[in-house]
Amino acid sequence: MSLICAALMTLAAMQVTKSLSVSDLDLSTIKQGWGKAVKDRSVTDTPLSIGGRPFSKGVGTHAKSVFKIRLDGRAVRFHAWCGVDDNARSERASVVLRVLGDGNVLWQSPRMTWKQAAVQVDVPLKNVKILTLEGGDGGDGIDYDHVDWADATITYSGKVPLAFVPPLERPIILTPPAPPTPRINGPSVYGARPGHPFLYQVPATGRRPMRFSAKGLPKGLSINPENGQISGRIEKPGTYPVKISASNRLGLATRTLRIVAGGEIALTPQMGWNSWYVWLGHVSDKIMRASADAMVSTGLVNHGWQYVDIDDCWARVPGSKDPVNGGPTRDASGNLLPNAKFPDMKALTDYIHSKGLKAGIYTSPGPTTCAGFEGAFRHEEQDAKTFADWGFDLLKYDWCSYKAEAPGVEGLKKPYALMGSLLKQQDRDIVLNLCQYGMGEVWKWGKEVGGQSWRTADDLGNGYNLFRDSFALYDRQHLESYSGPGAFNDPDYLLLGQVAGPNGTTQPTQFTPNEQYTQVSMWCLLAAPLILSGDITHLDPFTLSLLTNDEVLAIDQDSLVKAARKVSQVGETQVWARPLEDGGTAVGLFNLGDDEATVNAMWADVGLKGRHKVRDLWRQKDVGTYSERFSAKVPRHGVVLVKLTSAASSGRARRRPTG
Ligand code: GLA
Repeated sequence: MSLICAALMTLAAMQVTKSLSVSDLDLSTIKQGWGKAVKDRSVTDTPLSIGGRPFSKGVGTHAKSVFKIRLDGRAVRFHAWCGVDDNARSERASVVLRVLGDGNVLWQSPRMTWKQAAVQVDVPLKNVKILTLEGGDGGDGIDYDHVDWADATITYSGKVPLAFVPPLERPIILTPPAPPTPRINGPSVYGARPGHPFLYQVPATGRRPMRFSAKGLPKGLSINPENGQISGRIEKPGTYPVKISASNRLGLATRTLRIVAGGEIALTPQMGWNSWYVWLGHVSDKIMRASADAMVSTGLVNHGWQYVDIDDCWARVPGSKDPVNGGPTRDASGNLLPNAKFPDMKALTDYIHSKGLKAGIYTSPGPTTCAGFEGAFRHEEQDAKTFADWGFDLLKYDWCSYKAEAPGVEGLKKPYALMGSLLKQQDRDIVLNLCQYGMGEVWKWGKEVGGQSWRTADDLGNGYNLFRDSFALYDRQHLESYSGPGAFNDPDYLLLGQVAGPNGTTQPTQFTPNEQYTQVSMWCLLAAPLILSGDITHLDPFTLSLLTNDEVLAIDQDSLVKAARKVSQVGETQVWARPLEDGGTAVGLFNLGDDEATVNAMWADVGLKGRHKVRDLWRQKDVGTYSERFSAKVPRHGVVLVKLTSAASSGRARRRPTG
């Protein structure tokens, strides 16, 4: 026996290290932004050459490219020379290359441009299961970004590494349909300023016709019994517990909504739709009205979705003669003029409000917006008043073209503090969403300058990575400590369903079905604004199911507003948890890796003891009572989202409400 063992050990020690030319792998597995990857030649089928240096072997690709190779821990090193292929022939060619091992960045190139000499990458791969070679854009779009991985080799022992395309999972609907009996959804608390126009649509699912009533409404408000819209103006500040009822032929639902009439608005994160990622510059009054209609016809409004927000491109372009976007940007008195696609802003918000919904608008503190339209610079006071007169309920305030007037954080705060105080002076509740991509750690001062939410990073749609960047940022900066009622970190919009394709067309989101579950689950755990930015007028059943799971949405809207933090990480699995108003705990078991994994949520990490009931929130099913831990198999890039409730108290130990 010992002889056999010894022989085996010698054999293992003798396992020969071999070298594989990466270009000998199956290159059809490479996903890239233009053309097809080419073996031993550039993406345009010319001899490989970087900075004048020719290479006989390698892979010619085009940004953004992703090449996945399964190593299963048997590889030793990856080596290559890389850069922009000489045949790119453009100053606009700029790339950043990365080598990742199991999702961790092992190496990253500097920003590389045309004619620049090849850079060498040589990284150890010990224990790496999946190697990813990424050819990314250098920040100016992917045009001419011809990426070469020249002389790329993997040294390994045992079975040959294998290029693969991660299997695309099927979009499985987990959300059960809402029952036909009435159910009141949405937050349990709502903030409004006294004396301002008040509009709150009671979100309720169940068969129509439905009748609504409300007991204990503050003076000045009334409810429309037919459609459940509460409106009016609250006369006096105070906290008003209102008992809301919704009934239909099948039953009755009641629920208490605490209306807090004080200085704070947006006590829970805003939920709605924004035009940007689907319509870009094609947005119009017609599209906005159709989107408001869809908010109602899809039933989203019954689950608490409220805001219908115009993003950039509704104003006019300074100096432009274009018949649609051109013409004077302001009238003789300096008032903003919308472009030809928006004939009457007040009529548009009236239309949106008539459906119980709220309207949002966008501008920038600079002279022009990110897309080059008229901004608010030097007209802030007038523009804030215009937005209020037009009837808007939310302003997204970008940063583009603004030049800070003071160094550091003071300069960053200034335009937002100005707009924040101007909005507060209006005769309306207007939510302020700061959009300056996280500069100067905006989460530390976004609320102080009058914001209710602030974008924490770059645009998710431009390749800011859902997993690698978003999860890492929220964990590293402990962003949970900066969120609370009326103060939300905003990781950008929900990229679900159909998003913008070329020339005003739409195309499916870049996220796989599992990643879409991950996005919604994570956003809810983070107490992030939930703003869909896919085509709301064409929602497929799967996308709709992601947006209408009331138990999942209740996590986002929980009135305690304690955002989740990462409580543990093992390899590529992470557990995030947040406490809830009713004493329960929401826990997300995430798998950021490329293979299915078992994820363990340990009570000790979450800060719990004893026995807890576990409810799967996407399936809306109890899965059992557990002690010490809950483990689940989680698919690649997927999530299992659960709620833990103490088996001893059955969750009756309510936390003290805030707000
Ligand atoms: C920036 C913002 C986006 C969008 C565009 C509009 O990029 O981050 O969300 O508003 O501007 O031009």
